[in-house]
Amino acid sequence: MKKTSSIPSDKRQCLKMEKWLNFGRLLAPYLLCSVGATLIFSLFLFQTPNPFKATFKHDDFDQKNVRLQKDDETCNLFKGKWIRDLNASLYMNWSCPTIPDSKNCFKNGREDRDFLNWRWKPDQCELPRFDPKTFLKIVRGKKMAFIGDSVARNHMESLLCLLSKEETPVDVYQDSEDRLRTWYFPLHDFTLTVLWSRFLVTGEERVINGSNSGIFDLHLDEVDENWAQKLPTIDYAIISDGHWFFRKTYLHKNGGIIGCVYCREPSVTDLGLGFALRMSFRAALDFINQYKKECKEGKIMTVLRTFSPAHFEDGAWNTGGSCNRTGPRHEPAEIELGGGGFETELRDIQIGEVERVKKQLVKNSSGKSFEVLDVTRAMLMRPDGHPGSHWGNKWMKGYNDCVHWCLPGPIDIWNDFLMSLLKKEAG
Ligand SMILES: *[C@@H]1O[C@H](CO)[C@@H](O)[C@H](O)[C@H]1NC(C)=O
Ligand SMILES: *[C@@H]1O[C@H](CO)[C@@H](O)[C@H](O)[C@H]1NC(C)=O
Ligand SMILES: *[C@@H]1O[C@H](CO)[C@@H](O)[C@H](O)[C@H]1NC(C)=O
Ligand SMILES: *[C@@H]1O[C@H](CO)[C@@H](O)[C@H](O)[C@H]1NC(C)=O
Ligand SMILES: *[C@@H]1O[C@H](CO)[C@@H](O)[C@H](O)[C@H]1NC(C)=O
Repeated sequence: MKKTSSIPSDKRQCLKMEKWLNFGRLLAPYLLCSVGATLIFSLFLFQTPNPFKATFKHDDFDQKNVRLQKDDETCNLFKGKWIRDLNASLYMNWSCPTIPDSKNCFKNGREDRDFLNWRWKPDQCELPRFDPKTFLKIVRGKKMAFIGDSVARNHMESLLCLLSKEETPVDVYQDSEDRLRTWYFPLHDFTLTVLWSRFLVTGEERVINGSNSGIFDLHLDEVDENWAQKLPTIDYAIISDGHWFFRKTYLHKNGGIIGCVYCREPSVTDLGLGFALRMSFRAALDFINQYKKECKEGKIMTVLRTFSPAHFEDGAWNTGGSCNRTGPRHEPAEIELGGGGFETELRDIQIGEVERVKKQLVKNSSGKSFEVLDVTRAMLMRPDGHPGSHWGNKWMKGYNDCVHWCLPGPIDIWNDFLMSLLKKEAG
């Protein structure tokens, strides 16, 4: 008789994956060692006025929203406005022990407080306030991963602050680059992790004459194993990305170069940033959809958080651009869909990919669901929510961070949205 191992092979696979999630692997060392430099260089091409207009047809997503609304019999949480609320913020910088210095705007000298006194009001309903008890009840025994760049990290940091009112998280893992980080809430057996991925697909930086060039090769048919390997242990995947696409990239598929973004070479077609973004998200969503989970009946909820706008004014990141406003913009006409510029184009591409993968779902058997967490419109109205000069970076004085978001700050509503999506999913 054939000898059988005491642990079924799929179970062993599970344990192996668990190990990965808990301890991570060392990521390749990067030359850019400060988060600041990485951030700044990732914005290299923000100065490009509007890279999308020529490349993309604009789809009418308002129609889609109306349809979704009827289907789901709920209102569109993401369409609304900011209204005054003196009690909007659920924590302060002194009540959250995990705020990283670069987002602790008050500690870094920000003096105005009024930007905290706004809450998001959807046009047709109320957005329930974040409630850490409810959230932790839903996610008890589960693992949630934020997959993406430093803005995904920012989102997780906001969630940590909101949850730590109920339970203090334990910092259980941090890699040497601090790009993979895991927190654990023992009382609720809830694991929160951030998985660094610039492009969701494999992206390799070209090294030219021994230095990192800032130019990347993207493999549009190969998901980034930094997160893909860990999928078996994840119950909730919050995926996002966008800012790293604003740079020169060469796009590969089936082992060959099919085009580029911003390469300005006669022999290579510039397929546009939107194409690269679309194909990367498609690869990631398809991978999740086709993935057969070994451990947890294949259940996984995927939430795509849409593009988070930056707000450099009077210049680009490297030409003195700043963001020192103290209140939201209230110009709905300008911000209405279609009028939001390239940010809205990127968002529409991302939503289109979620719609696409949803159509392929076999609802009853797959145990997978896909949702959109659409922050783009709300955040376009919040030029006041960024650290600006208050990000405490010693190495890049004079540069402003108009990409990430202060904690506390308007980014906290991303978790109000997230909680609503989880509640809907939990039924
Ligand atoms: C402010 O918010 C807290 C937390 O949600 C709530 O308990 C409190 O009653 C609110 N205070 C006012 C004045 O609305
Ligand atoms: C919170 O911000 C204040 C300035 O508003 C600062 O003095 C204090 O050190 C900060 N506290 C923490 C714990 O970051
Ligand atoms: C690499 O270095 C060589 C020799 O210093 C130089 O001629 C060449 O232009 C460099 N290539 C690039 C792409 O910078
Ligand atoms: C905002 O920043 C710009 C550029 O740094 C500066 O010229 C301007 O005075 C600032 N505005 C306020 C209100 O601080
Ligand atoms: C799911 O639904 C499809 C079509 O409605 C059906 O053919 C299939 O047997 C169902 N699968 C399960 C696991 O119920």
